[in-house]
Amino acid sequence: MKPKVLVTREVFDEVLEYLAQSFEVTSNQSDVPFNSETLAIKLSDKQGAMVTLSDRIDTTLLGRCSNLKAVCNIAVGYNNIDLEACTKAKVMATNTPGVLDDTTGDFTWALILATARRLTEAETYLRKGEWDGWKLKQFLGLDVHHATLGIFGLGRIGQVVARRAIGFEMKIIYHDVRRAASEIEQACRTSFVNKDELLGQADIVTIHVPYSSATHHLIGKPELERMKPTAILVNTSRGGVVDDAALIEALRSGAIAAAGLDVFENEPKLNPGFLELKNVVLAPHIASSSKATRLKMAMLAAQNLVASLTGKTPPNLLNPF
Ligand code: 8YV
Repeated sequence: MKPKVLVTREVFDEVLEYLAQSFEVTSNQSDVPFNSETLAIKLSDKQGAMVTLSDRIDTTLLGRCSNLKAVCNIAVGYNNIDLEACTKAKVMATNTPGVLDDTTGDFTWALILATARRLTEAETYLRKGEWDGWKLKQFLGLDVHHATLGIFGLGRIGQVVARRAIGFEMKIIYHDVRRAASEIEQACRTSFVNKDELLGQADIVTIHVPYSSATHHLIGKPELERMKPTAILVNTSRGGVVDDAALIEALRSGAIAAAGLDVFENEPKLNPGFLELKNVVLAPHIASSSKATRLKMAMLAAQNLVASLTGKTPPNLLNPF
């Protein structure tokens, strides 16, 4: 008898075919997210699950799924999974680090450029038929080249963003809970500064930290007030790292110039304040969404699941076993 596994969201056919070699697979190709009750019912007879950020894996759920041995996130971030609860319930938890760094770094640059050069605002104006001719002072933006880029979190994705910045001949500064090794600093041509220095000096602040209680509202009202009024903020990390209400206020009042956002508090609900603002570029959590990368992420999660349920140590195990 093959172990039973659940894939909670739509994935590529080749991933399902790979899983079917080892498991009896139940998948949710209709892609309607399960609520916590449905998830608990669907998982109650399963040994493994491939999940995403919209599936909350906590003590309550695990208490209802006594057969469960492995939960494999299709994401590098795993704030949807209570690791301690998994360890107590003897459930392995895995993520998908590495495979999405370049794609997420590329998209961060898409947001930096679109925000600095007011691209979506200008396109909306054009689409509305409001363009009546060239003007010298039309949609004046911020120069990215030679500007100062401030990176919160010089992990894998932060490093990709820094390396791309070298091409724009930027001054690159970063802050992290730990200073990076000197080889990394050299390769990224970046120097370590404290949080206040980063906020005060950067023309562009970009965030690449995981979400946790320690990074909740890392950027709130006081931090936004420390930034230059001409600066822009870009977030492709996680909703909740930025205080959305405080950001909306800062964008309204001109405390900062603009923001480019791929992630939000309470996704997929958006604070309606964002929709009233012209100086924000908004994306629906797509930073890792190239076809090649999403396939790699799902395949890596599947490989983690196969390893977990066949007596091997999964390549991306997050909790002690
Ligand atoms: C995922 C992400 O698409 O990997 C992450 O942490 O934020 C995205 O790349 C998303 O979390 C899907 O679960």
